[in-house]
Amino acid sequence: MKDQFPIFERKINGKELVYLDNAATTQKPNQVIEAMNDYYRLSNANVHRAVHTLAGEATEGYEECRKLLKKRFNAGRAIITSGTTEAINLVAHSWGHSNLNAGDVVVLTEMEHHSDIVPWQMLAERKSIELRYVPVSDGKLDMNAFEVALEGAKLVCVVHTSNVLGIRNPIEKIISFSKNRGAKILLDAAQAVPHELIDFKETGADFMAFSAHKMCGPTGIGALLVSEEAFKEMQPFMGGGDMIDTVTLSGSTFQADEHKFEAGTPRIAEGVGWSAALEWISKIDLLNHHQRLLSIARDVKVSLEERGMTVYSPLGPGDAAVISFTHPSIHPEDFARLLDAQGVAVRTGHHCAQPLMERLGVNGTIRASFYLYNDHNDSEKFLFAIDRVMEAML
Ligand SMILES: Cc1ncc(COP(=O)(O)O)c(C=O)c1O
Repeated sequence: MKDQFPIFERKINGKELVYLDNAATTQKPNQVIEAMNDYYRLSNANVHRAVHTLAGEATEGYEECRKLLKKRFNAGRAIITSGTTEAINLVAHSWGHSNLNAGDVVVLTEMEHHSDIVPWQMLAERKSIELRYVPVSDGKLDMNAFEVALEGAKLVCVVHTSNVLGIRNPIEKIISFSKNRGAKILLDAAQAVPHELIDFKETGADFMAFSAHKMCGPTGIGALLVSEEAFKEMQPFMGGGDMIDTVTLSGSTFQADEHKFEAGTPRIAEGVGWSAALEWISKIDLLNHHQRLLSIARDVKVSLEERGMTVYSPLGPGDAAVISFTHPSIHPEDFARLLDAQGVAVRTGHHCAQPLMERLGVNGTIRASFYLYNDHNDSEKFLFAIDRVMEAML
């Protein structure tokens, strides 16, 4: 598959690229790069605003992305955002602003990415809502504590698949418990949609946020899927062009559909690129790749443990192939720099999940995350590079 991704033609520090930083962002296939290139070369115009041919093509190209999102994820409403972060902030500013009041409870977890913590802390400051965090114990969400935290909750925000540990949380259980208690549910699916095909309506969730760039699409674009019931309860928070129906000096009315949340010129080229990525990925057997990558990651985990590393990722059946680990004496950054010198790209640090790091009792980890184009050859080169680092440092 690597031949479909031009980045693998280049050498990094004189070595073939072993790209294992996929949880941060994935590489882009030719189709995506060419679609964006063609858009700028042949169809560039603003959307929804003019009757000329180019404007029509640009509008069609951009709206195609929404159509594909609704189809792929079986969603009635797809608001296009700049990514997962903006999608979650949108829920906080629109739904949260008008539906949460002083004393209301929002349940989060210690496993959340900062983008699913900070917007709620900011809202809590403004509206005096209560935030309850479900603890992580033995590397998993404590489901007994979750049930307790649910008491009186209005909203539950939970990461579907952890960007640090690859853990797929028991989402079905979490949603059914939350619904039974009358709470709305937001899924941070940034790390889930690259690995599994999610039927949004079937999940029963009210909001689902994710980013294109983690599933071979461009950066700068993502989506918020919204249930019909929650959509009715959302008010726009960003005003401007495109989102209005009428404007007079005494007031404005808004569009009825998703456009009311997309003020201003949208990410048109990115929409075109994401459409190409969605079409590309629709031909991929994700389940098959998921099992293949998980098996590679499990072998790597064993090899890392044999070399004295602590591996934090359980790599259970539904988990993503993400391995977070530390070495007892080599600092993660030194490790990653020496891996980079050998062409191996991994991420180090807190992975925008400082509360989880605190729970794991570390300042940071080294994270190797695998995606569709990775294979045994990559894992062998990764382990070979690890051995060279250990030779150099110990
Ligand atoms: C679980 C999770 N949530 C949210 C985000 C934020 O995504 P973005 O930076 O694309 O908005 C990420 C990105 O790493 C993530 O892994």
